[in-house]
Amino acid sequence: MTHIRKAVFPVAGMGTRFLPATKTIPKEMLPLVDRPLIQYAVDEARAAGIEEFIFVTAAGKGALEDYFDTAAALEQRLTANGKTSALAALEGTRMAEGALSFVRQNNPLGLGHAVRLAKRLIGNEPFAVLLPDDVIRGPQGALSQMVAAHASHRGHMVATMDVPRAATSSYGILDVDQTKGRLALARGVVEKPRPENAPSTNAIVGRYILEPSIFDRLANIGPGAGGELQLTDAISADLKSVGVTGYRFEGERFDCGSVQGFVQATVAFALDRTDLHGELSGFLDGRTKPMACAA
Ligand code: UTP
Repeated sequence: MTHIRKAVFPVAGMGTRFLPATKTIPKEMLPLVDRPLIQYAVDEARAAGIEEFIFVTAAGKGALEDYFDTAAALEQRLTANGKTSALAALEGTRMAEGALSFVRQNNPLGLGHAVRLAKRLIGNEPFAVLLPDDVIRGPQGALSQMVAAHASHRGHMVATMDVPRAATSSYGILDVDQTKGRLALARGVVEKPRPENAPSTNAIVGRYILEPSIFDRLANIGPGAGGELQLTDAISADLKSVGVTGYRFEGERFDCGSVQGFVQATVAFALDRTDLHGELSGFLDGRTKPMACAA
């Protein structure tokens, strides 16, 4: 049985990069092929053994709550009409009774602030944080890989991937002391360094396993990059007492918080589907061939 039972899903951000769609639809409800982003994150958490799901939400995110509720009328209609495959598609939206909690973030003061609001529901145990914007495609869920590694490497653990040096200013970057296989012991964490100042190209992406001491740190940090309470600043403050390990997960990460990343993920996940692959790849081939020159 896993020692990580609870996961926090910060979903209170405004999603301005997807306006106007996100004017009325939460970003996490945008569908990647036919499943909303949040479903990918919840499925990954379930596969890692998570039993309690804590959403940090905000005004306008009601569709997320309804999505994980039962839809009695719809289900009755599908049952009566013998639509078994449509009913089966709803399977992943069902949550065990009492497994889901919602905490409201009244002000979008940053990711660190959002995580801090889950303190009462987490209590005194290590827990996971998943950012649904980061969708990871691979043979095994990134969180499952991290939970297994955390069993023997306690302390804070962050998912990492190698990025081009020119991109370091978009990420939290680890200052690495030692590496061992997929693990990197950090001696520092720097939020969004300029490429020339970045201590490495080992970038943090949206999966974390955090020790409960993070809540004291989150209560004591001030605004960081962008004027927001940054989760990486709190992790960094705990470095000496708790330790921070980067875990270079196996898999391909898509930044679905950006339109470019979202479109790429849509194509990649659609091509993975046997029912879509053939026609879609033909369509893409036709579109991406060099255009013939006009005579
Ligand atoms: P982003 O930096 O992508 O911000 O947040 P955003 O508001 O969602 O999107 P843009 O930049 O306006 O397009 C990263 C993650 O942190 C959560 C977001 O919901 C997302 O999962 N978050 C961010 C919060 O829950 N609260 C905050 O105050 C900020």
